[in-house]
Amino acid sequence: MSYRAAILFVFTLTSVVGAELITPIPFSMPYDTAKAALGEKLFFDTSLSADGSVSCNSCHDLRTSGTDNVESSFGVGGKKGQINSPTVYNSVFNFVQFWNGRAKDLREQAKGPILNPIEMANTKEGVVASLAKNKAYVAEFGKLYKDGITFNNIADAIAEFEKTLITPNSKFDNYLKGDKNAMNRQEKEGYELFQNKGCISCHNGVNLGGNMFQKIGVMVEYKDPKAINGRFDVSKKDSDKNMFKVPTLRNVELTAPYFHNGLVKDLKEAVILMGYHQLGIRLKEEEVDKIVAFLKTLTGKKPAKYSK
Ligand code: HEC
Ligand code: HEC
Repeated sequence: MSYRAAILFVFTLTSVVGAELITPIPFSMPYDTAKAALGEKLFFDTSLSADGSVSCNSCHDLRTSGTDNVESSFGVGGKKGQINSPTVYNSVFNFVQFWNGRAKDLREQAKGPILNPIEMANTKEGVVASLAKNKAYVAEFGKLYKDGITFNNIADAIAEFEKTLITPNSKFDNYLKGDKNAMNRQEKEGYELFQNKGCISCHNGVNLGGNMFQKIGVMVEYKDPKAINGRFDVSKKDSDKNMFKVPTLRNVELTAPYFHNGLVKDLKEAVILMGYHQLGIRLKEEEVDKIVAFLKTLTGKKPAKYSK
């Protein structure tokens, strides 16, 4: 199906059948509480990194947005990457992980930053040896895993913890569940535009994103000043250049800056660029304001211990 046909299909589906293409975030996901508690300690532990300076939380601050809110993150020794750090909140709902989808799930994903030379710069043996110096970890891993502290088990516990990082109860979810007063008029008009202009053809599902790859620049070419290839780096197919996992729009008002390169500073600008490059339209100022108002209804409730 061509992209235009896809938009038309989605449009027809929503307007004729009245089907909701977006579903609310569930109140909780099934998870193993003991493993998640261990994973939580690991998430905040700088001893996962080669020089003990960086934790997962350094770049995915759970007390703010699950990101670091900078263009691109600083790893061990202040090394700077190219790509913007996505939020870990609701990442459990993504069909694959990373902008280019190179990890199939959270367990596989968690190994990436530990070994990445510009992030935690560690080795499999290095991280296992460093955790093994801590008696509490030896006991806790021993209780939960037959083979104790291993690289796989570290990733497994972190992934289990990430299942708890979901943000239900946004205004929009309450609206979807039937509370028609959960959103005001401007926000509802924004949602209408989001559907009728075609944003929803790529940003749908529980995460309003995270369930497909799409090109940036479908209608009007987007020239990335950083020339980041996206999905091409995994597939090596020319058609996958500029192809990225569609990012979630959950909590998007908190996760600036935007786009894979982190070059878009505010939400309004991101919406204008989306209209132009993805839909080939120039959204009017008032339309942009309404869509932004709608996007702000996607901010949910973080787990109590991480909300201020
Ligand atoms: C130095 C900063 C940094 C550190 C440390 C770091 N991350 Fe990330 N994280 C990033 C960046 C940047 C990306 C995007 C990389 C990409 O897509 O190529 C990312 C991507 C992710 C994603 C994928 C989200 C999505 O929507 O695709 C998850 C989940 C994640 N990190 C969890 C973790 C965990 C767990 C740890 C600790 C083991 C960790 N990160 C450590 C910067 C960091
Ligand atoms: C053809 C698919 C497609 C359509 C249509 C589309 N988007 Fe996107 N959207 C994407 C992709 C892909 C990205 C990631 C772009 C990048 O990082 O290079 C994205 C990124 C975004 C971002 C930035 C999120 C972040 O965390 O960086 C926002 C906000 C957004 N879209 C809103 C919208 C709105 C509003 C519309 C309608 C006006 C829309 N999108 C239409 C595919 C689409």
